Amino acid sequence: MSLLQLAGVGRSYEMGTERVDALRGVSIDVEQGDFVAIVGPSGSGKSTLMNILGCLDRPTTGRYVIDGRDVGALDDNALAEIRSRTIGFVFQNYSLLPGTSAVDNVATPLLYQGVSRRARLERAAAELDRLGLGNRLGHEPTQMSGGEQQRVAIARALVTDPALLLADEPTGNLAVRQGEEVIQLFVDLHRAGRTIVLITHNPEVAAVASRRVHLLDGTIVELEQAA
Ligand SMILES: Nc1ncnc2c1ncn2[C@@H]1O[C@H](COP(=O)(O)OP(=O)(O)OP(=O)(O)O)[C@@H](O)[C@H]1O
Ligand SMILES: [Mg+2]
Repeated sequence: MSLLQLAGVGRSYEMGTERVDALRGVSIDVEQGDFVAIVGPSGSGKSTLMNILGCLDRPTTGRYVIDGRDVGALDDNALAEIRSRTIGFVFQNYSLLPGTSAVDNVATPLLYQGVSRRARLERAAAELDRLGLGNRLGHEPTQMSGGEQQRVAIARALVTDPALLLADEPTGNLAVRQGEEVIQLFVDLHRAGRTIVLITHNPEVAAVASRRVHLLDGTIVELEQAA
């Protein structure tokens, strides 16, 4: 069974008397180990799709099944539980806690899983070390470069060992060189077996994914088959 299955998913927003169909009839299957890039112009529905994939929002129509569970049938608590156990999020703006060390930032998701403080810090330090930041454990966000902050955010996304790594424009705020390092990190994670879905405007990011889903006006206009 696929890790993620979207079948005929639609999402509309009611705006007074107007209705915006941000997604219409979107069907996508993502297998374990896939690396999928979602691409499309501004307003095509990428963030709307990301919010549904990340269980931050529910489809208005159609079905979304993640890890065997039908999102439409789950209450908010169950959705929060799926987010915390199954998905690691990476955002364009890193979303790190300010005034908080790298290791404490990375340890935070484990707090919600009832892991002891000592084990949290050990696992966070090990994850940062794996991503080449073993010498930045005590640095706060303002004391790190953009590329380092994004790698800390990726370490935080991975520390719970999620089934899915979900990223929205992960290189959007980075200089070219730092963006390339983050792209290489995604390539390495995919090679190591991670399932990755990312949204991007950046053709170089899209090029390293194993396939690309093209969105236009809320529908898929091109769906490449996995190699
Ligand atoms: N909360 C909302 N209420 C009403 N309309 C919305 C809402 N969020 C998004 N939309 C509309 O849905 C459509 C898709 O928006 P979305 O944010 O998913 O696009 P996007 O592809 O992420 O664009 P960008 O590349 O600019 O981030 C747009 O027409 C947008 O105006
Ligand atoms: Mg967007």
